[in-house]
Amino acid sequence: MSDLPSADTVLTVADLRKAFGATQALAGAALTLKAGEAHVLLGENGSGKSTLAKIVAGIHRADTGDIAIGGVRVRIVDARHARELGIAIVFQELSLAPDLSVADNLFLGREQAAFPFAVIDRGRERLACDEALARLDFAIDLARPVRALAIAEKQLVEVAKALLQKPRILILDEPTATLSEREKSHLFAVVRRLRDEGVAILYITHHLREVAEIGDRVSVMRDGVVVTTRDVTKALTEHRLLELLTGRQVAAEVVRSRPPPAAALLEVHDLAVGQCRGASLNVGPGEIVGLYGVVGCGREDLARAVVGIARPLRGRLVWRGRDFRPRSPTGARKAGIGYLPADRKDAGILAVRPVRENLNLANLAAFAWAGVIAPARERPPTLARLAELGVRFRSSEDPIAALSGGNQQKVLFGRAVGPAPALIVMEDPTAGVDMGAKLELYRHIRRWAEDGFGFLWLSSDLVETLSLCHRVYAMYAGRTVAEFTDPSLADENALLAAVLGRADGPRSAA
Ligand SMILES: Nc1ncnc2c1ncn2[C@@H]1O[C@H](COP(=O)(O)OP(=O)(O)O)[C@@H](O)[C@H]1O
Ligand SMILES: [Mg+2]
Repeated sequence: MSDLPSADTVLTVADLRKAFGATQALAGAALTLKAGEAHVLLGENGSGKSTLAKIVAGIHRADTGDIAIGGVRVRIVDARHARELGIAIVFQELSLAPDLSVADNLFLGREQAAFPFAVIDRGRERLACDEALARLDFAIDLARPVRALAIAEKQLVEVAKALLQKPRILILDEPTATLSEREKSHLFAVVRRLRDEGVAILYITHHLREVAEIGDRVSVMRDGVVVTTRDVTKALTEHRLLELLTGRQVAAEVVRSRPPPAAALLEVHDLAVGQCRGASLNVGPGEIVGLYGVVGCGREDLARAVVGIARPLRGRLVWRGRDFRPRSPTGARKAGIGYLPADRKDAGILAVRPVRENLNLANLAAFAWAGVIAPARERPPTLARLAELGVRFRSSEDPIAALSGGNQQKVLFGRAVGPAPALIVMEDPTAGVDMGAKLELYRHIRRWAEDGFGFLWLSSDLVETLSLCHRVYAMYAGRTVAEFTDPSLADENALLAAVLGRADGPRSAA
């Protein structure tokens, strides 16, 4: 068992709990950290990683739980106490004083706190600074104000500041967010060297890729608890980690439900509209097709043309083998194309109207008689539909605003799918939705795909795109530049390179 305390255990955290108001950030988290290991703490946003780190670093107090350093139980009272215990932290959010110089920042709150009456020896300070920066392979003018530095430079100054403490335990909270590949590999080299010198390192990240890059062990956090701690080995694949991270089976469900090749439902040929300058793709029945790209790549304009909101300047849309020019979302819907736009607030949600109306908005004709809506006719199929969608609600007559964000999204999702359409265009349907509701949406999407619906999926979540979609197109500067026909998380780097315009193109676009 890799998570039992042993002689080289420097930090033991047991049953840590912490609530912020109604939010239970930590719900009994446990962790051990050994001397000379790089231990990755992996978890999605909001899973409680920073809270755990801040408690160990004396920034927050736990509500309950135990912390032991070197086998001795301690009550860490504040940040200074944590420093005295040999704990250094690099925060996720930067904490430097912008108007002070790099040198002053490096020493801020250090010597003075430890020896309040000591005469500060500037010469020795400088030497120590130079040494810490040299360890990071980081040349920088110590006299410059921090304000004038690039974000990546600030991040490295933070790391240097932690190193100056010569810590026994070093916590790095998502330190690579702002770093380039080169800066990141420097940082990783430093982390490895410190580890080899016996420092215990807790490396916090939500990037699966970094586990194998830097970790000796990995602990996976979910909903405020550490669900497992593993040795990092070849057998611990990114797919397995993703399953641990999300608590669901990922690859098997998606890959095995792959539809047989069939004539495309939708074909897009060399389409130019808005920022989209020449994109081609197709979506078949039963296929979940991802369209991935950065802001401004033109994918939203493409989607809008497909659902009849934007007029193409050039190119062809083909729907079920015939040229197609939808004039409005209603027109597209009649042809069988549903649309779920990105922002719930803009999605035509009627906050104060009943859940029932919001669900059936696109389909009122079916329930109206002589133009008058008859709630009595509408109600039984509505209740069945809401149950099918897994919406949690008290009454279908409650205003939709009374539902949680995830449940609102399920209603809008049901509306987009409607009773008839064959293709659904979705923009970030899972953004801002809690994990439970997200998993339910995935389940529904897969089921509808198995029933023959096609999906054009615009997500800004790379992991979601690569794990949910049967095929993924990368879009860059208005063009589809690459197609991944059997995507997996292993394609993360290639897809990123493609959407940033750095691809030699692993596979070229259709
Ligand atoms: N100071 C705070 N006040 C209120 N809620 C907080 C605070 N810090 C964290 N939280 C909440 O606690 C949960 C865990 O947050 P955090 O530890 O920052 O997660 P992570 O670092 O894994 O993204 C989140 O729901 C977050 O919104
Ligand atoms: Mg965090």
